[in-house]
Amino acid sequence: MDQIVSPVTLEANGLRVPLKDGSTAYFNYYWLRDNCPTSFDSQTRERTFDIFHQKDAPQPQTARVVEGSLEISWRGEEHVTRHTLDFLAKYAKGERRFDPADLPRKVWFADHYEKIARFSQPELMRDKALVAEWIKAMLVEGVAIINDMPDSNEGLTETARLIGHVRPTFFGEYFDVRTHIKPTNLAYTAKALELHTDTPAEDVAPGVQFLHVRANSVEGGANLFLDGAAVANDLRREHPEDFKILSETPIPYYCEHDDYDVRSRQHVIELDSHGEVSGVTISQHMADIFDLDQSFLDRYYPAFVRFGKMLQSDKYLMRFRLSAGQCIVFDNHRIVHGRAAYSATSGDRYLRGCYTDRGEMRSTYRALTTEGRFK
Ligand SMILES: [Fe+2]
Repeated sequence: MDQIVSPVTLEANGLRVPLKDGSTAYFNYYWLRDNCPTSFDSQTRERTFDIFHQKDAPQPQTARVVEGSLEISWRGEEHVTRHTLDFLAKYAKGERRFDPADLPRKVWFADHYEKIARFSQPELMRDKALVAEWIKAMLVEGVAIINDMPDSNEGLTETARLIGHVRPTFFGEYFDVRTHIKPTNLAYTAKALELHTDTPAEDVAPGVQFLHVRANSVEGGANLFLDGAAVANDLRREHPEDFKILSETPIPYYCEHDDYDVRSRQHVIELDSHGEVSGVTISQHMADIFDLDQSFLDRYYPAFVRFGKMLQSDKYLMRFRLSAGQCIVFDNHRIVHGRAAYSATSGDRYLRGCYTDRGEMRSTYRALTTEGRFK
């Protein structure tokens, strides 16, 4: 048997090991011991080794490379750890583990309507590969339309369940958008609905919104959608100081009525861990009175208003009309939506909606498209 033995250098807190590409990489002893393959239970796939219960800091007795693996015999315990050099190479530079759901966003503009990813609900129910395509569209473009929806409450639930659990808000698990006699919310009137993202007053506003059109025979009531990330990217390029202030300053949002008083502070422009725009939180009808330093507002308000005006530009706004049997699904932290006024006496308009979580959607995507660490 071929046996390749390469020198491993032991240092005080870690060791240096030659990798297959000819480089030498440093690894910390705690990390090497904690992530020993024997630390993980293959059935539960959870870590069963608990480094908090080790009496002493891990130190190797011996360490060497044998047959493509680093082999460490630990001092003070009867335990040998073997890490393949391929495994070590993945963690050698402190780079994040590959995430299939971390897809670059593709921003879109007013002409996107024809290009929106479209799916048929019965086909989605049958074909997991289509569900993966749907989620990919959600991650990249933030919006998709699902046609051929069953005309039932269950139809919405089973569709949402394809990507996650229904996630309640303080309004409950589902909401019905139609005209109400005593409205507690603008959505429940026939008036125009300003461009907004939903429930910004929640600590963490829901991630994915479903709007299932059950009836739409009224005059007016066009659906308005835009990509908040596209607008924020333009602001970043054209007015970097405004972008900075909107992405760094949390502002108060509220939702208050007789028996609730929900409050939060959110950034109007949200950034992801790469520093890229991930989305926006915007709602004129739920922005609380800004309790910020008044002279700071000399700078904040012009930036805020500039951004609010940009959102209304024809460059970004898709206007279209959804029909009964369609469900639009969109990223509630990115896609800004609204509605033109309609005539409540001209027919029926009924939308039923719910939310799911973005983290759970990414989880579903990873499970559908990749192997993970344990398969
Ligand atoms: Fe809304």
